[in-house]
Amino acid sequence: MRYAHIVGWGKSVPEKVVTNDDLAKTIETSDKWIRDMTGIGQRHVANDRETTAALSTNAAIEALDMASVTAAQLDLIIVATITPDFMFPSTAALVQDALGADNAGAYDLSAACAGFLYGLAQAADSIRAGTISTALVIGAERLSSIVDWKDRNTCVLFGDGAGAVVLKASPQPGGVLSTLLRADGSGGPALYLRQKDNEVLHMNGREVFRFATRVIDRSAREVMRRAGWTAEEVDVFVPHQANLRIIEAASKSLAIPMDKFFVNIESYGNTSAASIPIALCEAAACGRLKPNDRVVMVGFGGGLTWAAAAVQWQVTAKPQTRGQRVLSRVGYGAAAVRSRARRIFRRIEDGLMNGNGKPTSRK
Ligand code: UT7
Repeated sequence: MRYAHIVGWGKSVPEKVVTNDDLAKTIETSDKWIRDMTGIGQRHVANDRETTAALSTNAAIEALDMASVTAAQLDLIIVATITPDFMFPSTAALVQDALGADNAGAYDLSAACAGFLYGLAQAADSIRAGTISTALVIGAERLSSIVDWKDRNTCVLFGDGAGAVVLKASPQPGGVLSTLLRADGSGGPALYLRQKDNEVLHMNGREVFRFATRVIDRSAREVMRRAGWTAEEVDVFVPHQANLRIIEAASKSLAIPMDKFFVNIESYGNTSAASIPIALCEAAACGRLKPNDRVVMVGFGGGLTWAAAAVQWQVTAKPQTRGQRVLSRVGYGAAAVRSRARRIFRRIEDGLMNGNGKPTSRK
């Protein structure tokens, strides 16, 4: 039997923090309304250099370092995002290049706030099937670039950031034990962004709220059943961080006390596909996630899409030695040089081909 274990995790958030009070200076809102209605206290907002690919790469490097996995060992890179820097190339391909992951396939996945768990499920399935051995799954968003900063109904909710995990094959039972992926496209109009210049995100908050409270309960129960766990046996629930009231409703309907739910929405707002991996990183860092813990994660959002996973968390983080850290940095530096050299070589090749030696003019 092959199992897919999470062996490393990392996160990256933009430096700039925008508090509720900051927002109240430009739109008609208040810290009290935002906290009472959502649990959000602040969000991180990216600058021009903090692209989706850059945030993804930083989170990935942290996760690879922790896992002591080199970029060359990666077979697959999945980036879940609804805010890629380009329609194509994919963010995953940009991450592949930045890491120098020359043996990896790379693609983006669009499933909004359920995206990270969609990616986790696909990577874990490929590992369990024996197709691949090592994968990097990233959830990354730059939602600040698609919200209307004058619309108080939406702009107060979202934030930017990225989280990543490294998955590895192992014969040891555990890791990603069960997953569930679902979609209901008839609910698409509840949360969407049309592909047009200057278009912004639109949301029917109440409809999404009702949908979310329904699906968290059902999908958490289903992955627990498939993993053979009861709710009491689960140590930590890591839900998508969209609204504290949604999480409280889930706690009530699942009859699981709130202290079993990991909540960090206060610091980041809703970071869509990045919210669950960022929360995982923080839960592990503060000791809420320990080896052998049973973890249930649930994501939900635009599509409408939703997904859940039951994971047995088995790894203790091994801090890298200084030497290992220096070596990995040299490796990423070399990847950057190699990428630049390849671009220059392509330009030279292109120049030569467009001169006398055009391949199409050969007779
Ligand atoms: O990641 C998945 C995607 N998103 C979600 O999961 C979000 C799900 N929905 C929600 O979290 C909630 O629906 C919201 C927090 C967005 C809104 O809460 P609500 O209880 O559904 O409030 P509402 O939209 O019905 O608005 C209530 C009032 C309205 O005023 P009136 O019409 O009653 O006078 C809004 O105009 O609150 C007003 N309002 C605000 N007031 C101050 C809306 N946004 C704000 C604001 N500050 N930022």
